[in-house]
Amino acid sequence: MDSTRRRLPNDDAAGAGVQGTADNDAERFWEQHYRAPRAWDARVNPLLAETATLLRPGAALDLGCGAGGDAIWLAQRGWHVTAVDISTTAVERVRERARDLGVADQVVTAQHDLASSFPAGQFDLVSAQYFHTPLPLHRSRVLRTATRALRPGGLLLIVDHGSTAPWSWNQDSEIHFPTPTETAAELDLDPAYWSVLRADMPHRRATGPTGETATVTDNVLLVQFIGG
Ligand SMILES: C[S@@+](CC[C@H](N)C(=O)[O-])C[C@H]1O[C@@H](n2cnc3c(N)ncnc32)[C@H](O)[C@@H]1O
Repeated sequence: MDSTRRRLPNDDAAGAGVQGTADNDAERFWEQHYRAPRAWDARVNPLLAETATLLRPGAALDLGCGAGGDAIWLAQRGWHVTAVDISTTAVERVRERARDLGVADQVVTAQHDLASSFPAGQFDLVSAQYFHTPLPLHRSRVLRTATRALRPGGLLLIVDHGSTAPWSWNQDSEIHFPTPTETAAELDLDPAYWSVLRADMPHRRATGPTGETATVTDNVLLVQFIGG
């Protein structure tokens, strides 16, 4: 293990389910997803932009960075970004794009299966945008680890789908997206050290990769580590 990653303990039943073949399954699934010939949507996510625009740039961590729209956008606004994803193809493309756009000095990319390792460092902003997967993942454990990677005053922004866009690759009608209240409960934050700045489910008009539009719902949770 190199010094840029922390190993996470596998301390629960759901975590145990992602060891062994499931780990490989997750990597395989997301590698296939990012290698498939489809239009890469590398636009910044609106809720991330809305939130970060109000902040002084610092160190940011993008969990499940995907095509890297958020990481690049943040870097272009002066942030130093660590962008991680389980897919090697995704992180390599983000690295290439950062280089092509002249922000390579501000973007560190790394492949992590966040079920078992987490990037080292302390951050002013940790962002998890649509950090959803159809594979087994103890997501709340990853997000709790993210809370420990924040500097005092730092923000954790979790934006989940609240509805499925018609152009989404995942049209599973059984899917349950966690509400902000459910996610906050899973984080189990001590109110002496944490403030909930936002927990809501706004609607917005979204545009798909080929220009179609639809109203979608986002589940937004923004918390701040006061310190302690
Ligand atoms: C729904 S996509 C969202 C991507 C990006 N944040 C966005 O907003 O477009 C979920 C992302 O999480 C990543 N991911 C899924 N499971 C992961 C894991 N165990 N460790 C790290 N990344 C993971 C996927 O590769 C994918 O890029």
